[in-house]
Amino acid sequence: MSTPTVIEDVIARKVFNSRGEETIEVDVLTTSGFGRASAPSGKSRGKAEVIYYPDGGVDEAIKKVDELIAPELIGLNADFQEEVDKTLHEIDNTKDFRIIGGNTAFAVSLATADAAANSYGLPLFQYLGGYAARELPYPLGNVISGGRHARGNAPDFQEFLVLPSGAESFIEAATANVKVHSTVRELLEKKDKLFSEGKSDEGAWIASVTNIEALEILSKACEEVGNEMGFKCSVGVDVAASSLWDPKEKKYVYPREGKKLDPGEQIDFIKELVDKYSIAYIEDPLHEEDYEGFAELTRKVKDCLVCGDDLFTTNTERLNHGIRMGAANSIIVKVNQVGTLTDAIETIEMAKRAGYTPVISHRSGDTCDWHIAHLAVAFKCPIIKTGVVEGARVAKINELIRIEEFLGDRARMANIER
Ligand code: PGA
Ligand code: ZN
Repeated sequence: MSTPTVIEDVIARKVFNSRGEETIEVDVLTTSGFGRASAPSGKSRGKAEVIYYPDGGVDEAIKKVDELIAPELIGLNADFQEEVDKTLHEIDNTKDFRIIGGNTAFAVSLATADAAANSYGLPLFQYLGGYAARELPYPLGNVISGGRHARGNAPDFQEFLVLPSGAESFIEAATANVKVHSTVRELLEKKDKLFSEGKSDEGAWIASVTNIEALEILSKACEEVGNEMGFKCSVGVDVAASSLWDPKEKKYVYPREGKKLDPGEQIDFIKELVDKYSIAYIEDPLHEEDYEGFAELTRKVKDCLVCGDDLFTTNTERLNHGIRMGAANSIIVKVNQVGTLTDAIETIEMAKRAGYTPVISHRSGDTCDWHIAHLAVAFKCPIIKTGVVEGARVAKINELIRIEEFLGDRARMANIER
């Protein structure tokens, strides 16, 4: 029998993401299968992320696939993921994928894995994670938007999130998130007669509230829904502090609230909020170069995931530096921050060895691709950050519901207690 995974063609096209921005989609055709992936896009990007596209944007990226990448990959086996990803690095030959584009690498890399799984007739999570992959992640969902993800009179923090724990199944955990999202709408309506039910790219409410008002409303909703569902629903926050940080003044500037905090005051403020609202997850509470501040806050808070997104940008060098300093205890994993699946897997493995909780994540501009749902199960990431409502978010949630069904009695929920 011939090898089912030999790559026969690589086709790239331009499609749109949930924000209506152009993005790249790649098909990989093998002897017996087919894979497809399209790249997401961030709005509050970390400085250390790879460059998404070469000069000339998506059109130029498609040319790179046609002229440089496809000729190298045709004939390789799609299940030699490391070799495919190494080839992408060699073709590009820069640290930040500026020649072929990080999103080009992402789409080729993921489409290759997808094609290999399909060629073997396996779901992606089983192809990547094997028979033992049977743990469903908890969904961490954005409920109220602020910062760079909103305009007008929205709060200064970027995301107010819900994180359930102790649920018996993924579907129950996802149900809790939906209930928290709709309870928050009711509470916002009560608070503000002018609330227009506007939503951000990630499907979170945009409302005229302060950080503290958003936290009050969200924690009330979490408590109500937690009591109803019979398990805990906790508050999470993505401060996205790099977007508040003014490097000249060396202060965090809160434009809505008109206040400025120096790094020490920022740490005290965040710690106070974590304690008061029993915040279980805090992302980027300090700006992306402040490893020391992260380490100090991580030491000071209890039972809280202190997560680095812009801080680490899924990059092993940055993560390694953080681990040595004790900065954070959790890391956001966005494959397109580094470009290839192999790079992201290395980051996840490094995080786990150091006891850091990996949180696999969507981007604010995303497509209806569901690959990250499979990556979470394959690589045992106990949390997936992917919104609550909106098509591109629900695509991932619904895929996890299907995976749970596929696993049947073997499915179990991840453990996220620290
Ligand atoms: P993004 O940000 O807009 O870069 O996807 C989301 C986040 O900060 O987690
Ligand atoms: Zn973030």
